[in-house]
Amino acid sequence: MKALIVYGTRYASTTEIAAEIGKVLKENGFEVDIKDSRQKDIDVEPYDLIITGSGIKIGSWTKETLKFLEKNKEKLSHKKIALFAVCGATRDDEKQYQEAQEKYLDNIQEKYLTKPPVAMGLFGGVIDPNAKYGIMDKLIMKMVKKDLENKGIDTTKPYDLRDWDEIRSWAMELASK
Ligand SMILES: Cc1cc2nc3c(=O)[nH]c(=O)nc-3n(C[C@H](O)[C@H](O)[C@H](O)COP(=O)(O)O)c2cc1C
Repeated sequence: MKALIVYGTRYASTTEIAAEIGKVLKENGFEVDIKDSRQKDIDVEPYDLIITGSGIKIGSWTKETLKFLEKNKEKLSHKKIALFAVCGATRDDEKQYQEAQEKYLDNIQEKYLTKPPVAMGLFGGVIDPNAKYGIMDKLIMKMVKKDLENKGIDTTKPYDLRDWDEIRSWAMELASK
């Protein structure tokens, strides 16, 4: 089986998640290629399974991942598909998690896929209050930072929500489908 992972990232946390998913698939006998969605002319034809995922910023996937899904809509209807999103929501806040699931996965499936994916994964990402941001992002991050501080979280270092066991289990289950 050949798998292709196409990911979108702005701050690099999704890159590592894509790599980990790829590693698990390889361990389970897949041939795997991993491509940044910014790469031009990604050809889905040689693959049996296509996994597409994106980090979330202000409620949205990266425009390149959406373009990839849109452009390949017909071709992907003949393939096994999996979707994942990387965001600031965690299972600790069930309501926020459900909303994220709807916004970042269910809506994407509805809009861009012609059939249900074999798997969808919602993963926590990395929130780095001290990274360099543009003006808009800086304002958002100021609010996020305050919110984290109110929850007693140390904002002097990146807040890494990635649960590698969860990511690996998801990929393992995906490999078995
Ligand atoms: C400016 C900014 C806006 C964000 N907006 C959202 C959001 O709307 N919803 C959410 O769940 N997470 C949000 N996040 C958290 C990101 O999804 C998280 O940092 C993720 O790891 C980003 O993926 P990337 O590093 O691959 O770009 C935001 C982060 C930043 C820096």
